[in-house]
Amino acid sequence: MIQSAQQHNMTRTDLAFQRCINPDCAATFDTGKLHTSCPKCGNLLDVAYDWDRVAVPEKLSDFEAMWSQRFNPVRFSGVWRFHELLPFVPQKNIVTVGEGQTLLQQADAVGKFVGMDAGQLHLQYEGMNPSGSFKDNGMCAAITHANLLGAERAACASTGNTSASLALYCSATQLMKAIIFIGSGKISYGKLSQALDYGALTVQLAGDFDDAMIRVREVAEQLGIYLVNSVNPFRLEGQKTIMFRVLEALRWEVPDWIVVPGGNLGNSSSFGKAFMELKQLGLIDRVPRLAVINASGADTLYELHERRGVRWNGGHVNLDPIREYNDYMDQNGIKADTLASAIEINRPVNLKKCLRALEFCDGVVRQVSDQEILDAKAKVGAGGFGCEPASAASVAGAKVLRREGVIAASDRVVCVLTGHELKDPTATVAYHTTDQDVFHKTLGSRGVTKASHANKAIAVPNELDDIIKAIQLYA
Ligand code: F0G
Repeated sequence: MIQSAQQHNMTRTDLAFQRCINPDCAATFDTGKLHTSCPKCGNLLDVAYDWDRVAVPEKLSDFEAMWSQRFNPVRFSGVWRFHELLPFVPQKNIVTVGEGQTLLQQADAVGKFVGMDAGQLHLQYEGMNPSGSFKDNGMCAAITHANLLGAERAACASTGNTSASLALYCSATQLMKAIIFIGSGKISYGKLSQALDYGALTVQLAGDFDDAMIRVREVAEQLGIYLVNSVNPFRLEGQKTIMFRVLEALRWEVPDWIVVPGGNLGNSSSFGKAFMELKQLGLIDRVPRLAVINASGADTLYELHERRGVRWNGGHVNLDPIREYNDYMDQNGIKADTLASAIEINRPVNLKKCLRALEFCDGVVRQVSDQEILDAKAKVGAGGFGCEPASAASVAGAKVLRREGVIAASDRVVCVLTGHELKDPTATVAYHTTDQDVFHKTLGSRGVTKASHANKAIAVPNELDDIIKAIQLYA
């Protein structure tokens, strides 16, 4: 049975603290101030818990009792119904807009494309969140913490989804003002329209996401604005629940693989943390393997992990290859460049945490081309639950790993679909178009040469006989 913290006669914020991930530092700080880097050594921080004092359920299936409390907005939330596993805030202070009502779909048609046995490929469809992407899982946690601190303004740099999510939470709750930094020409209209429509102050920077990320950190620091990018450890606590819901949908059985696109590496980091904690708490007896998939035009993690052998190494990451690679990119003016604009990132801020997750989950990293991404995306769409290009990197990556034999056809695989199809319809329409000019202008310039899985519209004259003939021919 789950006992409430009140039954234990304690306040939950006492149970949580921030801790530097560098084992040689491991400095701790209370939750009363946000730290996006360790004030002592500059590394990232985790939210950590004094688990001995947390009323954690004995087994994961105990969380099923939360479904019967759906009248309570906290337990309705797909994030906060797992509150006992992210207990940094008392229940009364939780902010929710009903996030996390997402689906794990068995997807056999996509599974066949990937090369899996029937029944083995699952898609975790995070596009069903209120702002249309997985970001809401983390944003409700960050805004909860920001509100606890009395923040009046919250900011982020974004390739579009974090900003849409922040803008939504600020406008829906009216708790604070959203300030978002985006790179120029680097954001899909679906996402930009959300930020504008929800009333966020939108700062369009002459630069790309990596530039915007540096600037927003400086501005947040100088103006005392609460930062909600994934360097915020509270935000990543919310994203752990994506994995809790995957386990829940699999009736608490651990899959063999979790496959996730990698951009700023917040998701992969939080998934790793989720499994570390579940294992530590004795709630699971094994962990899945983790596959992080980069777009080949933004493949820093792949380059560092697979080619240059950079590892977490118990917290002693060899920084030389990272510096060398960053210098190489700077000297050659190499900027991230992929149609999957959500993951068009060259300097992932959560690199070290992701390396930790890869080590704990015996993980691998792969890169996939824009062609592979769009082909996989078309297959996902044809399966009924479409996604944006970045999300399809997970499916394209699973296909690569299957081809290599790293994933077996009989493995149970979960690919995370991070964002809704309507976030970025430009690439979708261009892929399926009959207009060669549109195809080449939008996709050809990015190395996409064919649309093998296109579902092209059929052009007919405005004549009933011709229309009927065409339909009989094709359907
Ligand atoms: N998929 C989508 C749809 C995203 O929007 C992002 C990140 C990712 C994958 C990568 O996730 O950063 O956790 O590795 N979008 C951020 C944004 C960067 O600003 O919206 P990650």
